[in-house]
Amino acid sequence: MELSNYLVERTALVEAALDRFLPREEILPARLHQAMRYSVFAGGKRIRPILMIAACEAVGGEAAQVIPAACAMEMIHTYSLIHDDLPAMDDDDYRRGRLTNHKVYGEATAILAGDALLTQAFGLLADATALEQVPAHVRLQVIGTIAVAAGSFGMVGGQVVDMESEGHDFDLPTLEYIHTHKTGALILASITTGALIGGASAEAARALERYGAAVGLAFQIADDILDIVGDQATIGKDVGSDEERGKATYPALLGLSEARGRARELRDTALSALAPLGDRGERLKQIAHFIIDRTF
Ligand code: IPE
Ligand code: IPE
Ligand code: MG
Ligand code: MG
Ligand code: MG
Repeated sequence: MELSNYLVERTALVEAALDRFLPREEILPARLHQAMRYSVFAGGKRIRPILMIAACEAVGGEAAQVIPAACAMEMIHTYSLIHDDLPAMDDDDYRRGRLTNHKVYGEATAILAGDALLTQAFGLLADATALEQVPAHVRLQVIGTIAVAAGSFGMVGGQVVDMESEGHDFDLPTLEYIHTHKTGALILASITTGALIGGASAEAARALERYGAAVGLAFQIADDILDIVGDQATIGKDVGSDEERGKATYPALLGLSEARGRARELRDTALSALAPLGDRGERLKQIAHFIIDRTF
């Protein structure tokens, strides 16, 4: 199957499940539930859920085993986007082709919609009925891994240093810290938990960890590049906002062409990490190419 068809099919599975797991709009508090759904169903590439599914499949598991955990990951990611766009952070007006959450629902509701998505995600991960295909001890490991990846040692840690670095000089180690944490951590955790649920051998798990670290960083370098060369309608968010805010980005430090070179190096690292998986690594190889070649 071509990658484009695979992405469409797996996205449909994830979106149907998200619709089942999220509270309906008419359930009280209705405005909060509307705000949560507004951002979750605004579109989005669903790359983290897809990576979780593909990692699970690459070690012999099936999509159905990871779909609930993949939805939890997408809820956490969507919360991070809602908060990232707030006036106190990146102050952006567009996301996933729509006005940002706070522009529509106001800041208080946007903050709370993010809080609720984060909290519900962990409720879902702990739900033995929803995750019936994941043994309890594996579920606990998944919860622990995702908690670390989302918190101060992961995504939130990266976001803090991203904010602290705004408008200041920064060096490569700081930039790499920001990117591997604010973005790399959730991407890596998607892959390692997908492998865990799929029952990966120790060797496959190590290979996927190396793959995940490389594509996680490459994904954010591509995001930095798209903030400069992307088409606003295609990426669905404001172009040029990094430069405007003096953000620590790869193109700002190294220039566009070196940033592109670094993304290609990381792609190659990711591709060679998959060697122990043989043919089973094919899909993840295609995704590594997509991550750096994407236009959205
Ligand atoms: C945007 O993530 C924020 C980053 C961590 C780079 P995505 O590019 O995955 O955004 P969606 O989910 O497709 O909207
Ligand atoms: C976002 O980085 C990282 C998180 C949301 C955790 P950016 O601030 O570069 O993401 P975009 O460009 O707004 O999507
Ligand atoms: Mg940001
Ligand atoms: Mg932002
Ligand atoms: Mg960005």
